Amino acid sequence: MNAPAPMLPLVQPWLGPECADAVRDQIVTGFLGPGKATAAFGARLAEIAGIAHGVPTVSGTVALTVAAKALGLEPGDEILVPAYGVISTINAFTSVGLVPRLVEIDFATGCIDVAQLKARLTPKTKAVCFVDFSGHTGQVLVEVAAFCREQGLPLIEDAACALGQHFEGRNAGSFGTIGCLSFSVAKVMTTGQGGAVLTQDKALADKAACWIDHGDPDWRQTNTHRHIGTNLRFNDILASFGLSQLQTLDQRLERKRAAFAALREELDGYLFTVPGGEAPLHNIVFADEPAALVRDLRAQGIGAAQQYRFLANNPVYAHLGGEGFDNSRRWEAQAVYLPFGLGLMQEDGRRIGHSVRATGHRLHRVRSGN
Ligand SMILES: Cc1ncc(COP(=O)(O)O)c(C=O)c1O
Repeated sequence: MNAPAPMLPLVQPWLGPECADAVRDQIVTGFLGPGKATAAFGARLAEIAGIAHGVPTVSGTVALTVAAKALGLEPGDEILVPAYGVISTINAFTSVGLVPRLVEIDFATGCIDVAQLKARLTPKTKAVCFVDFSGHTGQVLVEVAAFCREQGLPLIEDAACALGQHFEGRNAGSFGTIGCLSFSVAKVMTTGQGGAVLTQDKALADKAACWIDHGDPDWRQTNTHRHIGTNLRFNDILASFGLSQLQTLDQRLERKRAAFAALREELDGYLFTVPGGEAPLHNIVFADEPAALVRDLRAQGIGAAQQYRFLANNPVYAHLGGEGFDNSRRWEAQAVYLPFGLGLMQEDGRRIGHSVRATGHRLHRVRSGN
């Protein structure tokens, strides 16, 4: 009898020996806190996004909060956020007293629907947060950015899942007033935990740097604090870990595309896609009975999961719900996240596709997101 195929976990990072070498080399230098490697990491991230400033911080969630702080958003200010997705985005803002208003998503892209965004604007709206859903950087993002400019509203682009993606010559993280990245384990590159704020505007970068370093990044020299801030700085050990992965960013993105292409051979027409021939960060299908599909896939060693909700279906945000939001509810009710991540090989993609078919579950056809 053949040995059963190994379990494919939901998230598969890919880390070569150069990562361990980089961390060891950094430790040997004795510089462990935020220093040259952290500065180099921020600069390299900015360069990849084609933008002037990059400020690393402790997580993607914190990067979004730092963006709000740098923009001078105050408790009570209203911010528009997508109604479906990871809890981090909304929590980043509510944790500092901002008032979220949910915006329905477009089913095909998973991103904010522009018409809905316009309809949800109120005189109290002080900012918009657009999530590049699963790495989606497309026409809708261009339109939202143009609308925000017209309205004089700052746009926070949550590009947590989109490092290295681009659309019409512009890079993820560079479409808004401030872009935010995450380096959690599920991302194209990971430092375990980590994030960064990206901006073209030096004054905003300075404000971000102030907030994460006790209100004054020069305080160690001046012994003076001009503003309130806290300590949310990154460190050189993780920065060197991150830098080592950025050296292979093209290869990393190519691995993602290759595994996605293999999976797509099996499930073409049924997989969530992003524009421009890119691969999304997640591998997603839609099923009538997602819990049963997840169960049957796990029985075959495929670590699928149902993830994320219509945000108002979380008790803490129930007050934000109400009529409508059919697309967000449908994503919650039907989406199944298949294993994803840079560790996936092409044969894994094929195995996942075969396993999905072997379950016999009916999948929904998807319109490609553009
Ligand atoms: C779209 C999005 N925004 C924000 C975050 C938060 O990032 P972190 O987990 O680094 O706090 C994530 C992480 O999963 C994400 O996917």
